[in-house]
Amino acid sequence: MPLSFGEGFGVRLVSVLFKKKPISPGDGFGVRLKILTFAPYMETVVSGIRSTGNLHLGNYYGAIQNFVKMQNEYKCYFFIADLHSLTTHPTPANLHGTAKQVLVEYLAAGIDPEKATIYLQSDVPEVIELYLYLNMNAYQGELERSTSFKDKVRANPDNVNAGLLTYPVLMAADILIHHATKVPVGKDQEQHLEMSRTFGNRFNRLYNNDYFTEPYAFNFSESLVKIPGLDGKGKMGKSEGEGNAIFLSDTPEAIRKKVMRAVTDAGPTQDNQPKPQEIQNLFDLMKVVSTPDTLEHFDNLYNTCAIRYGDLKKQLAEDMIIATAPIREKIQDIANDAPLLRQVARYGATKARESASKTIKEVREIIGFRNF
Ligand code: TRP
Repeated sequence: MPLSFGEGFGVRLVSVLFKKKPISPGDGFGVRLKILTFAPYMETVVSGIRSTGNLHLGNYYGAIQNFVKMQNEYKCYFFIADLHSLTTHPTPANLHGTAKQVLVEYLAAGIDPEKATIYLQSDVPEVIELYLYLNMNAYQGELERSTSFKDKVRANPDNVNAGLLTYPVLMAADILIHHATKVPVGKDQEQHLEMSRTFGNRFNRLYNNDYFTEPYAFNFSESLVKIPGLDGKGKMGKSEGEGNAIFLSDTPEAIRKKVMRAVTDAGPTQDNQPKPQEIQNLFDLMKVVSTPDTLEHFDNLYNTCAIRYGDLKKQLAEDMIIATAPIREKIQDIANDAPLLRQVARYGATKARESASKTIKEVREIIGFRNF
């Protein structure tokens, strides 16, 4: 049982040694010394982003900004889930291009390859092997009942492939391969995490051990930031149509254009009237990128029916441009630095495979594979 010294850190008892220490040299009598050895221990965090497009403000403020903080306090593995992206059959050029884009944006956003292990899922074949073993304990019924599977079947009834059905098994392999206990993901992934715990526990029960630990959702910051999209509905997402999401790589002109087109209503008619969702969304975005003074200014204008949405949008666009400038500037440089990307990917793959191959060796042993 590790002893925890605050968040993420602690020590783990690694050995207990009894030594008989003579009172004087050559003396047959002595005292028994108990020597405890502790090793530093850091909890492990794993998270991945499916490489199906550019990262947007929702990915940044909802996830990556937290990854950047976590890398100082936990043993972090941040990977690009390119195997998961195969469920929708990308072209070879697209597969590579989107994976590169996420890698570039991870680095531009401040994930440090010296602190965290950054890798491509497809560079760690041990994950695929664990996926196969876990598949033997994952049942059709439970996989078919997963909400995300049902959503995808509804959205794409012509592409219900086995990879889609077993998506949560691959995700469990991603997490269990490093014995992660903390998984920073949004609410929509809770059910997948629960399935990861189920598969790990089932493996433990089948082989009568406690090899896998249970992973739980992890929210590093106190409050979850809400990043709505610009379409007046729910959260920012890349699949909700062009214009709904602001990408980290968007030019200032593109940002202005999208924000100016954001959905609004006809305006308030009574003082202090509640904001409809599409307007609240714009204020929520402002809360993230603008100063408190700016937010208060527009809040007052809304509450006194003096607001002009055009002004609010202009301000919001400019503040988004300022907030994302440091990342946007780095994206271009990093994307053009092929040697850097190669080095980061290789270094990350080596570190990830170290941890993953240890797990696979142990899992094979537990399952009963023996050398002749
Ligand atoms: N399913 C996650 C998503 O769609 C991505 C993902 C794959 C993941 N494997 C993971 C997240 C392991 C955390 C840990 O967002």
